[in-house]
Amino acid sequence: MATEIIPLDVQGLTKRFGSFTAVDHVAFTVQPGEVIGYLGPNGSGKTTTIRMLCGLLIPTEGTAKIMGIDVVQDPEGIKPHIGYMSQKFSLYDDLTVLENIEFYAGVYDIPRDTEKARIQEILQLAGLESRPKTLTAELSGGWRQRLALGCALIHKPPLLFLDEPTSGVDPVARREFWDLIYQLAAQGTTVFITTHYMDEAEHCNRVGFMYRSKLLAFDSPTALKSRYLHGAAWDLDADPLLETVEDLDGVDGVAQASLHGDRAHVIIDPEVWTADRLTKMLTDKGIHVRGIETVQSTLEDVFTLLAHRGRTAANLD
Ligand SMILES: Nc1ncnc2c1ncn2[C@@H]1O[C@H](COP(=O)(O)OP(=O)(O)OP(=O)(O)O)[C@@H](O)[C@H]1O
Ligand SMILES: [Mg+2]
Repeated sequence: MATEIIPLDVQGLTKRFGSFTAVDHVAFTVQPGEVIGYLGPNGSGKTTTIRMLCGLLIPTEGTAKIMGIDVVQDPEGIKPHIGYMSQKFSLYDDLTVLENIEFYAGVYDIPRDTEKARIQEILQLAGLESRPKTLTAELSGGWRQRLALGCALIHKPPLLFLDEPTSGVDPVARREFWDLIYQLAAQGTTVFITTHYMDEAEHCNRVGFMYRSKLLAFDSPTALKSRYLHGAAWDLDADPLLETVEDLDGVDGVAQASLHGDRAHVIIDPEVWTADRLTKMLTDKGIHVRGIETVQSTLEDVFTLLAHRGRTAANLD
């Protein structure tokens, strides 16, 4: 049986700008049809990573292969295999919807005999079939996003890079956009998507978390929660509550303590604390702990912990 070609194989990928390292030895592989969420704070290196993977930026070190093709050695060779929707969407505002799609059909050398049909398919996919003559500048955020996705898909690439496609888009448009992503993935397209929305990350097959240029974790949401938080965060019922939160913030091994209604939501490093020891520590400080309830951890909790560990390691807390 023929082995399936790995859509994305990244090893030791590094980018330095002068003395600043924007991407630091990032490594992962992606299987066909996976939806990969790529998360991380502003400036952590997500866009720089994608630009290297698309052959737009030369890595300082490391390798990346798209469908088995090396992105540095053959940047032209990877072009038919990838679609890229950049963070700024790259649409021409002074062109109509149709003209934008036609422009990308030209860029990707769509054969003349199939071009018309493909453009029609893209208009349909974007839901813009009744508005081909609308000026792109007049489209709302959600429609611009769908048009940009359509343009990135014009040549039916097996691998799609989407850089924050849903930022600034309303919740309904976001959900509809994700329906489209799942449809594409179900048809075999591999999707690599950056986002700041945790609800979107929860729905990815695997999630990568960038922090200060490093890829700190890369796994399924369930595996991440179980590995780093043993599946749980804590809701603490204590008196006085505000003081408890203030006391806990900054304690080594407490990634975050925040008010959550009439409880304190506490993300602890399970390598450092147990519920009993935390209760004792607070009691010793004169805080009355009524109870600690274990609640299902979220991806946001995991990333808060990873960021805490990252800061602690760098002595920044
Ligand atoms: N051409 C460049 N020259 C110098 N520094 C750069 C260049 N491009 C990016 N950087 C720096 O590299 C770091 C990573 O930037 P990048 O755009 O990859 O972050 P990001 O994770 O995509 O952030 P955001 O969530 O804000 O989009 C930033 O500190 C940025 O200022
Ligand atoms: Mg970015």
